[in-house]
Amino acid sequence: MKAIETFNLTKNFGNLTAVDEVSLEVDQGEIFGLLGPNGAGKSTFISMLCTISNPTSGSAKIEGYDIKNEASDVRRSIGIVFQDPSIDDRLTGRENMELHADLYDVPRDVMHSRIDEVLHLVELEDRASSFVNTYSGGMRRRLEIARSLIHYPKVLFLDEPTLGLDPQSREHIWNYIRDLKRRENITIMLTTHYMEEADKLCDRIAIIDQSKIIALDTPQRLKDELGGETIIIETSDNDLLSSKLEEAKLVDNILKSEAELNLRVKNAHKSLARIVEFAVSIDVYIDNITIREPDLNDVFMHYTGREIREGGGSKELSGMAAVMRGRIK
Ligand SMILES: Nc1ncnc2c1ncn2[C@@H]1O[C@H](COP(=O)(O)OP(=O)(O)O)[C@@H](O)[C@H]1O
Ligand SMILES: [Mg+2]
Repeated sequence: MKAIETFNLTKNFGNLTAVDEVSLEVDQGEIFGLLGPNGAGKSTFISMLCTISNPTSGSAKIEGYDIKNEASDVRRSIGIVFQDPSIDDRLTGRENMELHADLYDVPRDVMHSRIDEVLHLVELEDRASSFVNTYSGGMRRRLEIARSLIHYPKVLFLDEPTLGLDPQSREHIWNYIRDLKRRENITIMLTTHYMEEADKLCDRIAIIDQSKIIALDTPQRLKDELGGETIIIETSDNDLLSSKLEEAKLVDNILKSEAELNLRVKNAHKSLARIVEFAVSIDVYIDNITIREPDLNDVFMHYTGREIREGGGSKELSGMAAVMRGRIK
């Protein structure tokens, strides 16, 4: 049996199709990622699987239960961490857990030991009796993850689990998720618009753009299939070089940002000399060149012609700003 199966799952909001005939299968014990820019339809897709919203057409099964006809069995089988925080600030961590355990009919006699167990998993035991409004963003997320596990779900949905967190908290969350998979053999479906998160954490990913799956495979195979390499080049005149390179058709794809050009080529070592010669011939000076293997951003670009990359470094952009910034070309 598959943990998750969807058949042409579709959701319309008026004239807008937020999820367009999405079919996929997720194996038990897999960490499966939905990767795509803001507005791609990821949260809407998950909300149908969690029985929070009804599909317009198509169907889906979670652990063999139909999301329409067996919604209560589905709900018992799943845990959810929403994109928007949903913990109560005025309660302590432990009180939040107790509230949730009640909601899910966790038997009283095992409730406290389970709460301790899941708090331990996300390393929050020490802070359990503090009010949540004293928690950092990363701690809140950890509490939400702990809370979603209180009834031992078979399938866990995490909608943008590290949205807005600093890189260190993000790494922590990744570790908990990996731990969970290893210890509990739980199936995890997560959404993200962070390339790195999908790449490092997920066994397989579906890349989603404009309500449709555009590619689905392991991160490694998606990158391997693309082949080629990316040359990153900083020059005295990126605009001139990129327009001339485009004319001369010396590279497969050019992505221009303020500081650098990303040039997609089949074989960087063969192309490099020609590109350098070419730059010199039009009086463009090269400050720096690096070569790297394709990443998931390149994969996304290959299929959509656009970039998905989030804001770089530790400077955290909000989701929308990150997408806007990504659309340079
Ligand atoms: N309740 C709703 N009513 C109308 N439109 C919606 C609603 N929820 C989502 N949308 C639209 O559906 C599209 C997909 O949204 P969403 O699933 O939130 O994308 P993502 O999670 O990938 O950022 C967007 O265009 C969004 O504006
Ligand atoms: Mg979303």
